[in-house]
Amino acid sequence: MTMNKDMMDAIEKDNVVFLSTCSDNTPNVVPIGFARPIDNEHILLVDNYMNKTRENLEKNPRASLVLRDASKCPYQFKGTVEIFESGKYFDDAVDWATSVMSKLSPKAAVVLKVEEIYSVKPGPDAGKKVD
Ligand SMILES: Cc1cc2nc3c(=O)[nH]c(=O)nc-3n(C[C@H](O)[C@H](O)[C@H](O)COP(=O)(O)O)c2cc1C
Repeated sequence: MTMNKDMMDAIEKDNVVFLSTCSDNTPNVVPIGFARPIDNEHILLVDNYMNKTRENLEKNPRASLVLRDASKCPYQFKGTVEIFESGKYFDDAVDWATSVMSKLSPKAAVVLKVEEIYSVKPGPDAGKKVD
């Protein structure tokens, strides 16, 4: 499943997503400001302060996110993450974060490969997979 242009624009514009991870019985959800699409299959998230999130992702690399303004983009994006502590994605994450806040010192770039997209739009299609 790939993101369409409207979805990518919404992720680019909304300045917070809610990222959910889980490695045991307790799901963990956090707001993440540094989230933007890389292409129509990947979303870059910057790890500045992740703790439980990072622990979860190292044990179970599956994650799910929705936008803060889900009324504008009513979708759940689910997939598998890769964590980069060096290389192009990490350099991009550092450039981006430090250009916004010079004091930030990102620990990693977390790249979500979007594999499934579900509607969260209230109504008959709520929860249905988008294909
Ligand atoms: C509005 C907002 C934006 C945030 N953006 C980021 C971010 O881009 N990257 C990050 O690592 N943490 C960010 N945080 C902090 C995380 O939400 C969270 O505090 C951190 O991941 C530690 O929680 P955890 O132990 O559950 O992972 C943000 C917090 C808020 C309130």
